[in-house]
Amino acid sequence: MRVAMIGTGYVGLVSGACFSEFGTDVVCVDKDVEKIARLEDGIMPIYEPGLDVLVENNVKAGRLTFTTDLKEGVKDADAVFIAVGTPTRRGDGHADLSYVYAAAEEIAEAMDGFTVIVTKSTVPVGTGREVERIIREKRPDAEFAVVSNPEFLREGSAIGDFMRPDRVVIGTSDERAREVMSDLYRPLYLIETPIVFTTRETSEMIKYAANTFLAAKITFINEIADLCEKVGADVHDVARGIGLDGRIGKKFLHPGPGYGGSCFPKDTIALVRTAQEYNSPLRIIETVVDVNAKRKKAMADRVIAACGGSVAGKTIGILGLAFKPNTDDMRDAPSLDIVPALIAAGASVKAYDPEAMEEAKKLLDGISYCDNAYDTVEGADAMVVLTEWNEFRGMDLDRIKDALKHPIVVDLRNVYDPNEMAENGFSYSCVGRAS
Ligand code: UGA
Repeated sequence: MRVAMIGTGYVGLVSGACFSEFGTDVVCVDKDVEKIARLEDGIMPIYEPGLDVLVENNVKAGRLTFTTDLKEGVKDADAVFIAVGTPTRRGDGHADLSYVYAAAEEIAEAMDGFTVIVTKSTVPVGTGREVERIIREKRPDAEFAVVSNPEFLREGSAIGDFMRPDRVVIGTSDERAREVMSDLYRPLYLIETPIVFTTRETSEMIKYAANTFLAAKITFINEIADLCEKVGADVHDVARGIGLDGRIGKKFLHPGPGYGGSCFPKDTIALVRTAQEYNSPLRIIETVVDVNAKRKKAMADRVIAACGGSVAGKTIGILGLAFKPNTDDMRDAPSLDIVPALIAAGASVKAYDPEAMEEAKKLLDGISYCDNAYDTVEGADAMVVLTEWNEFRGMDLDRIKDALKHPIVVDLRNVYDPNEMAENGFSYSCVGRAS
């Protein structure tokens, strides 16, 4: 079995490395010459725990290779995965499928013998059909099938999520394609992973329904958190109290500054647009998008309120910039809204993130970047936690207090215990808990 993975972004690179770990021969293809050269030297384009070792081991074992030559990669492949980007299209919020369709055209020219073409990128319902049409037009006599196989991995725990998923979804009505896909995922049969075989359209829909549902769940608990603050309830106990009901579930009920990242913001907007186009509006998700956007902005106001109503002339020490821990990804991170709002309100901002500072520097101007968390809070009027990196949880509270000009801590990820903070003399505010 031989796989070609087109696109070495998060999904492509992790999926390619994991399939090779399953024992399959994988060639990862990308147009970016520099990226491929660096990958060949063992340098990862992203920070993802465990990925470098996985790639190194499989390259050494001869199962994982890299190339910029799509034709070379595709010609002997049994399955070709399309894992290129599907960013939000400027102007209308739809997913931009130009990279997917361009890949389909090139694959059509290069494939040889029965080939399964798999869309791994998150693509709107109907994309598989269009990919099939594009390929059929170029190669009327070719033997191929186009399958939808969405990926559910999370950044920061991507390898574990791929290797031990809750389920695998495969959308195809073609028997031969089903066999190829079953072969590829055979190791997961051994750990009794549920495999959902369905139609291509349904599979494409499952991916969007999953991400928009999760975005709605987070937004729900964020609004409940706001109400908890007003009525004197504790959102963590509420989350536990409702989450123990199996129909609700415990996960994704952690309140915070609003969801970000490369998936939820883009996918919620894209599904809203699709639904409007089909005149079947998703009003819940429309509201989720709106509430989440406003929430990120409202978080800056919380910081300003915690600083006595103004941050003009004050220094704010920000801990964490990435949209979540264990990644250097800054895409749609809440920090991108919160930090500029604080600067606009007259604050000087110092910031530190264990992995995302290089990315942050490309997107956030006018902040002074620090080498560690303690330097960030040294002399600051307030400390603000924007990302729940583990290293912030275990910080020495006395040292923070000595470093800060005023003992003000705004914890937008609820990493500290309100009682402990009060006992240590902090003016502490968090999300959805009395403080
Ligand atoms: C998300 C999904 O969780 C994956 O299943 C999916 O495969 C992926 O999108 C994708 O479509 O490719 P990811 O964006 O890596 O994964 O990160 P999540 O862990 O889902 O977090 C997304 C955002 O929600 C983050 O900003 C995080 O801080 C926030 N979040 C998450 C909360 O605010 N509260 C929670 O309880 C959970």
